Amino acid sequence: MAAPSRRVAVLGGGSLGLLVAAALARPTGRIARQVVLLTRTPVVPAGATAAELLAPAEITVEDRCTSAAPGAAPAAAASWTAPVHVPVRPRQASDALPPLDALLVATKHYDAVRAVQGAHAWLTPGRTALVPLANGLGLEEQLRTAFPAQPLVLATTTYGAARRGPLRVAHTGVGTVYVGPAGGGRAAHAAAEGVLNDFVDAGLHGVWDPNMPRRLWTKAAVSACLNGPAAVLNVHNGALASPAATPLLRAICEDVAAVMAHAGVGPVDAAQLFREAHEVQSSRPREPCVARRDGLTNGTGEPRAGGTLTQVAVRTAPNINSMLQDVRAGRPTEVGAIYGYIVQQAAKHGVATPRLQLLHDLVRLREACGPSDGPVLDVLPPPPTAPAA
Ligand SMILES: NC(=O)c1ccc[n+]([C@@H]2O[C@H](COP(=O)([O-])OP(=O)(O)OC[C@H]3O[C@@H](n4cnc5c(N)ncnc54)[C@H](OP(=O)(O)O)[C@@H]3O)[C@@H](O)[C@H]2O)c1
Repeated sequence: MAAPSRRVAVLGGGSLGLLVAAALARPTGRIARQVVLLTRTPVVPAGATAAELLAPAEITVEDRCTSAAPGAAPAAAASWTAPVHVPVRPRQASDALPPLDALLVATKHYDAVRAVQGAHAWLTPGRTALVPLANGLGLEEQLRTAFPAQPLVLATTTYGAARRGPLRVAHTGVGTVYVGPAGGGRAAHAAAEGVLNDFVDAGLHGVWDPNMPRRLWTKAAVSACLNGPAAVLNVHNGALASPAATPLLRAICEDVAAVMAHAGVGPVDAAQLFREAHEVQSSRPREPCVARRDGLTNGTGEPRAGGTLTQVAVRTAPNINSMLQDVRAGRPTEVGAIYGYIVQQAAKHGVATPRLQLLHDLVRLREACGPSDGPVLDVLPPPPTAPAA
């Protein structure tokens, strides 16, 4: 029997988009998958020959995650490449191409709707599933409103990636891709299953989550607790593992939990959220890059045991989180997708979220201050004490 075939486009050739496109383009022999990368900035150099323009581009992944024996020095970064088709001009109505099964949206949250509008010619109504991968909340509502004819799949990932060049990306953390349906019905379920199978077939650790809205909220809670404070204070995540930070993290959880209770994502209290928040956009180097390969069935189970938010800060202690990276570089942050959205929902339901509002305003102020290149304060948690002999 012929291998099933899929056509997938990745929208956005940044850190995550390059990693995902390269992963999905690796031949597996199980699914015949064609992968297209849609970029805003052209990646084919000016003056390229016609043959170069038509040839698939090679994405190089520097793998920083190859596992090393316990106690050994991290393995030298390995490299692997995957040929991905990168169109050099927008698709024309006259292009007779088979329809896409999925468009994975790998832009920042605030660029996503405009980016999908720009890729509109690639969408087949009723067929091409939109799969937003950005962190933050509310994107599925925006996409549903702007593109009502497209199926929607919810997904989020804790893999880590850092772009090193137009077609070069470092894989900086092994994680999980969680996928689930956006709503009930067989079509939504089938679209999500197809996307999860793509990830799992490509060797990524994919997990089916039937309650993606709650996962997205919990992930946003982690970002709300760590990203804003670290960006405003100019500290590594580790600073937030200090006991002095615990009341702040608990207070932020109280605000988020109060809104979650009204947002229809299940009952939650602040203490539970503080404990539940074990998934974060963290780099976890020195773990196998292909953590699991479950075949074409859905991945199951959780990869790691839970923990508290403080433990997340310990585990990601050396990280300069994305919000801090953005303010230091003078780029817009995803503050609107995290604090902005939650505060908006809170106002809708008449819930007070003073800590979130304050952090929102402070991050906006920090953005307005422009770039900075001073050192990030290195407040690392104390090393664990050795057991008494
Ligand atoms: N990086 C990670 O490890 C990671 C992990 C999990 C989740 N995330 C989330 O994933 C999202 C993307 O993060 P990232 O780190 O990959 O950001 P990034 O490196 O800034 O990449 C974003 C990409 O989107 C492209 N883009 C913007 N507007 C576009 C448009 N209209 N058409 C086509 N492409 C467009 C940008 O193009 P240009 O190159 O032209 O600027 C850029 O390449 C964020 O929400 C982030 O929070 C990231």
